[in-house]
Amino acid sequence: MSTMTLGVNIDHVAVLREARRVNDPDILEALFVACQNGADQITIHLREDRRHIQDSDVKNILAHSKLPVNLECSINQEILNIVSRLKPHRATLVPEKREEVTTEGGLDVFSYESAIANAIEQLHDALIPVSLFVDPTIEAMDKAKELGAEMVELHTGHYANLFAMLHSNLVYSNHSVKELELPRYELETQLEKALHSLKISALHAKKIGLEVAAGHGLNYNNLQGIMAIDAITELNIGQSIIARSVFTGLDSAVREMKKLTTR
Ligand code: PXP
Repeated sequence: MSTMTLGVNIDHVAVLREARRVNDPDILEALFVACQNGADQITIHLREDRRHIQDSDVKNILAHSKLPVNLECSINQEILNIVSRLKPHRATLVPEKREEVTTEGGLDVFSYESAIANAIEQLHDALIPVSLFVDPTIEAMDKAKELGAEMVELHTGHYANLFAMLHSNLVYSNHSVKELELPRYELETQLEKALHSLKISALHAKKIGLEVAAGHGLNYNNLQGIMAIDAITELNIGQSIIARSVFTGLDSAVREMKKLTTR
């Protein structure tokens, strides 16, 4: 069995802070608590609209973190210049749309091939290893390798949505995923397919020499299928940990997640 790196995404601590524009909750306190309770990596996303993490957060986190910092960013040139200067331990390139609530879908590595290749080159020149956040397809793995990335992060959002539709009462809330309002047997088939795509993509990525992470929508209930995929050696998890921390404290929320992600 391979070990699993738990990347704790602390963006949502900054979401709460930005709601009031005061330094409360303190993102550095979140960093220390995550670090002391089992996180193996800190993940943050410097969005173009700066809706949560600010440039100063990245600087402070890099200055104080004992753990590697995985900085997610788009291929926007201004952002790439900042990231190249700040030198995180890794950059994960993600798609970004201003109007989205969260990152929807993986990077389109086919339509933006040359822009992504240039971004990777710029980051490599700054000695920053690069991961690409991509949908789980064999073609995307091959393209990520061809473009020069060291790593891929498989987008688990579709899997997580299907899991939620099957196993929670989301169907009866305002938050159901309309296109997934399907009969139970159909959801089960689709969930199996989604897990299979993650598995064969991870295996293929590993075979061609890429490191493999996964993330988006992962929570305390839906990890089992993902943990069974040996080729995935890193998970980046944010929303569910920070949501749980409201009720249990961040220390316990991280410790619980660490237990579930330990092989
Ligand atoms: N990985 C990537 C590349 C992401 O963009 C996000 C969302 O910021 C996550 C992981 C974490 O997703 P979630 O907050 O749903 O756990």
